[in-house]
Formats: sequence, structure tokens, C-alpha cells
Amino acid sequence: MRAVDIIIKKRDGGVLKPEEIRYFVDGYTRGEIPDEQAAALMMAIFYKGMDYKETAELTLAMARSGEQVDLSGIPGVKVDKHSTGGIGDKTTLIVGPVAAACGIPVAKMSGRALGFTGGTIDKLESIPGVTTSFTVEQMVDMVNDTGICVAGQTAELAPADKKLYALRDVTGTIDSIPLIAASIMSKKIAAGADAIVLDVKYGSGAFMKTREQAQLLADTMCAIGTEVGRNTVAVLNTMEEPLGMTVGNAVEVVEAIETLKGGGSPDLVEHCLGLAGKMIALGLGVSFEEGERLAQERIDDGSALNKFGDMIEAQGGDRRVCIDPEKYLGKAEYSQVYYAKKQGYLRKIDGYSMGMAAFTLGAGRAVKTDSSDPHAGVVMNTRSGVNISEGEALCTLYSSRPIGSEVIAWLDNAYEICEE
Ligand code: URA
Repeated sequence: MRAVDIIIKKRDGGVLKPEEIRYFVDGYTRGEIPDEQAAALMMAIFYKGMDYKETAELTLAMARSGEQVDLSGIPGVKVDKHSTGGIGDKTTLIVGPVAAACGIPVAKMSGRALGFTGGTIDKLESIPGVTTSFTVEQMVDMVNDTGICVAGQTAELAPADKKLYALRDVTGTIDSIPLIAASIMSKKIAAGADAIVLDVKYGSGAFMKTREQAQLLADTMCAIGTEVGRNTVAVLNTMEEPLGMTVGNAVEVVEAIETLKGGGSPDLVEHCLGLAGKMIALGLGVSFEEGERLAQERIDDGSALNKFGDMIEAQGGDRRVCIDPEKYLGKAEYSQVYYAKKQGYLRKIDGYSMGMAAFTLGAGRAVKTDSSDPHAGVVMNTRSGVNISEGEALCTLYSSRPIGSEVIAWLDNAYEICEE
């Protein structure tokens, strides 16, 4: 077999055989197939696409390129959840404990912030003492002890994806549905869960800009999951506006705790109940409606918040953060209120611009080696769809460094205030 023949076949619109896909992925991971040939194949896939079977084969080859997490030491149906990025997305911090409080073992590997999208691991690590670096054995023990563990992704998980993603990033081949689907699902499959709930976002603050693209991505990922024997469901959610009232690190932890206490903004609560309900349904074999009812029950009776406390304690933090979050999370050195520049109707709070404001405050990462400021973030006072007056406080900004005019410019962009 020769890499060039595989490239030509796809360039001419052919359907690749499983052994051709495996040959290419294995050879590229081992360094035997060079970047230029892998880039050419990525571009050919970008233009000619892949059918579901090819995409599933690519996913499996990438999932098998490194460590495959064995969660068989944890009894029960292990349900994972994945969100395709977003602004203010603190969902894992809420649905993880809710599902665990219903008896679903949650062994979750999460990512860090990159660019303007936040990362669950950075949010979690904004709680003093909390660590997220565990071996699989430690994770299994923690889930067996407390029912939940949220850990950073190990370097060994799907190394083929790591190499290919970096290559796609610099060759204009990120925006391909089969490539995105294979990239996401290879990591989920390697992470070992039996069932997967996908939260696929669309809109200005998301990878997929339209609902149609998101639907196609969701269908592709569900087909891959089914093809490889993992029960997979997807939910589409808009990311035109940030999720909830906070964007950043510690500020999102505070909002997650409020939500677990039964508060939280209606959009966030509805979103979390929907996702937790699906995780519970897949884990317990009940309907989505029953899953949502159980999720609400665990919030109302305090057991979800208690589970969050168990997780924080097991991961090295102080569970009293649940009682007095501001005290145990510490304070940002700098803060500033942002005021409305004119009166009118607040039509929209743009997700991308708000994400960039939080990024500029220090919550994101330009490159993987940057650090993320635990105190950086934005707390909004209102959602869109209301009348506001000139000079009204719209949000408060927090950072460990002085807040510059660039942040304010992003907020001027984020708040769309119109006359009617
Ligand atoms: N997220 C991923 O993990 N991979 C992609 O290709 C795009 C988004």
C-alpha cells in the first residue's frame, strides 16, 4: 500500500477501504507518513467528504492510536458528555454532579480553554487546591468512591488526533464535518464511556455557525457512535449568546454552585436539565422525561450539590466552597463595572465578542502553553430582550491584571442596543 495512492483515490472522490484508512492513520502517528501527505489527504477529505462508514473507520483508527481507557473496573453504565465548545459553558460542573447523584458513574475527561472558548478544567482548577491530573487507575478509584471524577485529558489519548488537529489548524482543513466528527468521537471513544451525550452548539460563539451544519455534525457523530457500539444521543443548542450570566473561570464556578442550589438563570437551568436528563436516561434506561424529573429532584433535595462537594474534596479542594464560594475562591485584584453607553432595547449579547472580552481579561489561552487566570471573567447583570437606560450597569469585569480598553471595545461589540 502507498500513501500517495490513498490520497489520489480520495482526491478523485473514491471511498476508502478500512485497511487504507488504518494504514494511513497508523503510518502518520508513527511518523512514517510525512506531514505533506497527511495534509494532502486532509484537503482531499475536506473537498470530497467521507461517508458514515469511512468516518467511523477513521474515528476508530484515531481512537486506537494511543491509550484506550478501561473503565470496566467501575460497575454500571458509564455515560460521558461532550460539548462542542461555547461561551460561559459551565455545564459539566452542573450535570456531572447531578448525574452522579442519580447513581450514574461519571468518569469524565475534559479540556482546557483554547482561544476564546473556555475549558472545564481551568474552571475547576480555579478552586484552590483542586487538581485534575490523574492516572486512569486513580480515576477509577475516585469514581468507585465518590461516583464522579473530572480529570484533564491524558497526553496518550488519541495521539493521531493531536497530530492531525495541529496539522488541520495550519492547513485550512478544520471546518470539515467528517474530520471534526472523527476528531471529537475518537477522544470520546478512547475515553472509555459506554454511552455519550453530545451537546452540539451553533451560532457566533461556536464552531458551527448554522443550525444545519450543527445538525449534520450531530447526525455524523451519532452514526459513528452507533457504528462502534456506543449509545450516542445529541442535542443542538444555540451559542449566539453566552450560556448563563457568567463567562470566565471562578465566576462560572460560583454560577454552577448557585444552579446546583436550585437557582441559576433559566436558560442555563433548562440546558442543564435537558443534558443531565439524557445522561440519566442512557445510564438508567429510563425516558428522557423521567431523566429530567430525576435531575430536578436531585437538585431540589440537595444531593447534587453534596455530590459536587464530594468531588471537590476528593480532588483536593475545600468543600466549603459550596457554602461560601466567594470566600473560598478568593478575589480578583482588578474589577470594573461596564455601563450602557445609551438607552434602548438590548437586542443581543454576542457570544463571540463576550468570549473575546473574557479571553482579553485572561480567562482564555492564545496557545496551549499559556496559563489561564482563575479570577478572570465577566458577570452579567442582565440577559438580552430587555429595555435598558443609559448609564445602567450591564456587567462587572474581573482580572488579575489591569483592565484595558481592548476589553471595553469587545463589550461595546457584545452589547447590541437598538432603538426599538
Ligand atoms: N473539537 C475537536 O476536538 N476537534 C475538532 O476537529 C473540532 C473541535
